[in-house]
This record gives sequence, structure tokens and C-alpha cells, in this order.
Amino acid sequence: MQQTQTVQDEVQSSAPAPRLGRAIVLTSGKGGVGKTTTTANLGTALAHRGARVVLVDADVGLRNLDIVLGLESRVKHHLLDVLEERASLDEALVPGKHSESLFLLAAAQSREKDDVDTAKMKALISSLRERFDYVLIDCPAGIELGFRNAVAGADEAIVICTPEVAAVRDVDRVVGLLGNRFRPQLVINRLRPYLVKKGKMLSVEDVNAILRLPLLGVIADEPEIIVTTNRGEPLALRKDTPTGAAYHAIAARVAGEDVPAPMPAVPKVTILERVGALFGGRRA
Ligand SMILES: Nc1ncnc2c1ncn2[C@@H]1O[C@H](COP(=O)(O)OP(=O)(O)O)[C@@H](O)[C@H]1O
Ligand SMILES: [Mg+2]
Repeated sequence: MQQTQTVQDEVQSSAPAPRLGRAIVLTSGKGGVGKTTTTANLGTALAHRGARVVLVDADVGLRNLDIVLGLESRVKHHLLDVLEERASLDEALVPGKHSESLFLLAAAQSREKDDVDTAKMKALISSLRERFDYVLIDCPAGIELGFRNAVAGADEAIVICTPEVAAVRDVDRVVGLLGNRFRPQLVINRLRPYLVKKGKMLSVEDVNAILRLPLLGVIADEPEIIVTTNRGEPLALRKDTPTGAAYHAIAARVAGEDVPAPMPAVPKVTILERVGALFGGRRA
């Protein structure tokens, strides 16, 4: 009896820790609004919190997430290799450069979105959920099969919207397609507080007067993001920067912490204002 107990204890202690298994699709309808950038930065910030995270690039044919994470030279197998059983999941998962708990499953570059079998994709996300706390799925633009495949295995959605009328309309359409099951939450990306103050850009309130979604956070239009993307080092690695900190606040909110939604601050004096003052207050 005593011996049986010991063996059982051993089996229990060697069993993998249960995972949260949350599958979240990051989507927008419109292309170029920051889905891939947000996936990389949110994933980096969640992994920094100690969560086990896998980022799935579902943008088959136009893969990007590997570059944003600086992992392009390490990708040997991709999503379709796994779905079509040419590679195991372990062979295809690429460990992150900056965190032991972040992994990438890259998209195929030379295949079509229509090549993905929806049922197999759903099964794959389901097995990833058993192994990871967060499965973040980077969705392609559009609302066709690529979108439906990316959404298939998810049970939550984060919608990314820029403060532009076309982006808001596309998000509205996507949210309608998703329905309530995904409890979509909103990230507003590329906000320029100075332009909002001048009445030249939609504000957070303007965007959400139409979408009426729980706001996860707001990310500024940040030139440094382009630099960090080219370097393959997501800005969330630099928590000391305002935008890096904003991604960490979004990650905390995703994890259920009651921290305020990050809001980019209006710069006190812009360079343009400073130059304008030199010319007697005239501004372009
Ligand atoms: N907050 C931001 N500030 C400045 N540039 C950004 C920001 N978010 C994304 N970008 C840039 O916008 C472009 C499109 O972003 P990406 O994440 O690839 O969009 P999507 O995946 O929705 O097509 C990229 O060049 C990226 O570096
Ligand atoms: Mg993308």
C-alpha cells in the first residue's frame, strides 16, 4: 500500500503542470493595422510574466511573425507541415530568442490560405491549448477562409483597430462575424494624441462610440516600433519605454489584472511647435 502511494506520487509529480489553455485570435479585417506587431509584443509581455506562450502565424502565404520576433533563420517547419503530418509539433515549434517560455509556429510562405484544412487547424489549436497558457493566433487580413481558419480553434478575440474610418468599419464587420462567443476586446493602435487634440484624428472615444467594445489598451503611433521590428526585437522587451510598458499593461489586463488601460500621453511640446515658436508662432 505504502509502495503504491509512492509510485502514484512520482507519476503525479512528473505530470506536466496544467495549462490555462486560452486560445486568442488577433484580428481586424483590414490589413496593415498592427495585428502581427501586437501578437509579437503581447506574446513577449505575457511570456515575461512567466506564462507559457505560443504564437501561431495563421497568415499563410504572407508570413511575418518570424521576422518581427527575429526568428526567420530558425524556422525549419511550418504550420502546414504539421497539419499535413510532415513534421511533428515539437519539430515545428521555434523557441523564442529572448524567453524560454515563448514559442513560434510559423506560417507557410509558399502556400495558399485555402490549403489549410479547417478541422485540422481546430484540432491543432486544441492540442496547443493543452501545452500552453496562451495560444495567440495572428490572423490574416480579410474575412474569407484565412480568417475563418484562424478563428476556428480560438475562443477569445482581440480586435486591432487604427483610428481610421475604414479600419473601424472593418472591425465592426469582423465583430459582427465573430458574434458574442469570442467576447472581443479592443486594442487601438497607432494613435497620435497630438493629432487627436487638434481634431485631426479619431479619438479613442470616437472609435469606441461605434464599436462599443471593452477596451484593452491603446498603443501610440511609435516610430521605434519600425526600428524594433527590423531588428526582430519586439518593443515589449523594453518595459522602460512608454510603448513597451503599454504592451505590458495590456498583457496584465489579458491575464485578468485590474490595471488601467494604457493611454498614450500628448507630448507637452512637439518639435513642430518648438520650430513654430522660433518663427513667431506661425505653424505649418
Ligand atoms: N504602433 C505602431 N506605431 C508605428 N508603426 C506601427 C505600429 N504598429 C504597427 N506598425 C507598423 O505598421 C506596419 C503594419 O503592421 P503589422 O503588424 O504588420 O500589421 P498587420 O499584421 O495588421 O498587417 C508595420 O510596418 C509595423 O511596423
Ligand atoms: Mg500581419
